[in-house]
Amino acid sequence: MVNNHNILPIGVFDSGIGGISVLTEIIKYLPGEKYIYLADSANAPYGTKSCQHVRELSLNAAKILFSEGIKALVVACNTATSAAVNDLRKQYAFPVIGMEPALKPAVEIGKSGIIVVMATPLTLQEEKFNALYSRYNHEASIIPLPCPGLVELIESEAGTGRISEYLKQAFGNLEKSKISAVVLGCTHYSFIRKEISDTAGPHVKIVDGNAGTARHLINTLESYGLLAPGSKEPKPPEVKFITTGNRNEVIQVCRRFLKKALAVNRQM
Ligand code: DGL
Repeated sequence: MVNNHNILPIGVFDSGIGGISVLTEIIKYLPGEKYIYLADSANAPYGTKSCQHVRELSLNAAKILFSEGIKALVVACNTATSAAVNDLRKQYAFPVIGMEPALKPAVEIGKSGIIVVMATPLTLQEEKFNALYSRYNHEASIIPLPCPGLVELIESEAGTGRISEYLKQAFGNLEKSKISAVVLGCTHYSFIRKEISDTAGPHVKIVDGNAGTARHLINTLESYGLLAPGSKEPKPPEVKFITTGNRNEVIQVCRRFLKKALAVNRQM
């Protein structure tokens, strides 16, 4: 049954532009939905803050989206999910979809070698990742690789040179020939997939959780009877961007990243 709820937008948030990589994947499956994306840029980055601080920021981001009127919330940020997804689910009646590093698919394809999990320091420190690590560490050799400062480089649109330099250092102590997969445990990292692949080597599979999150969202909306009429029918994406940061600047960057990501996605 379709009711007024079904035509409400899906709320998506991240500390900045990272969640646009997830939004792009969701739009691929559900182009006929409406979206409202919050970039909490005034408070980015999340990954080097305390868990309590990120929990507060995430609850505040959800509150802003709730006040816009949404039917579901996608926490398009591994760090915010680690810190706040349980509280968000307690607080809101609409479905809340979180993210976690895609260790399961990485172990399935790469158990013969080392699996590197790149993420923010907070994500790798938190209970959610540690539970995931304990579930898979008997099946594969997993190395968590915290990457403080990398989100800032991506946000500032630092060129390939600076990003590659960072990655070279970060991967410096790893035996590259033994790496089979790299998990992108932060939604920002999807935007530097090529640089990560160039650093890790051509034999390394790069895995992110974006498609899994999009599928989870669809299944959840379906089971709640919340899909909009025509949600899977192709149409130009309808996304409203909001931000806690500098409005003109951030929204322009968001639009540019979405456009670029949608174009890349269409070629795949
Ligand atoms: N994009 C985010 C994530 O997936 C967070 C980055 C940050 O603000 O540190 O973890």
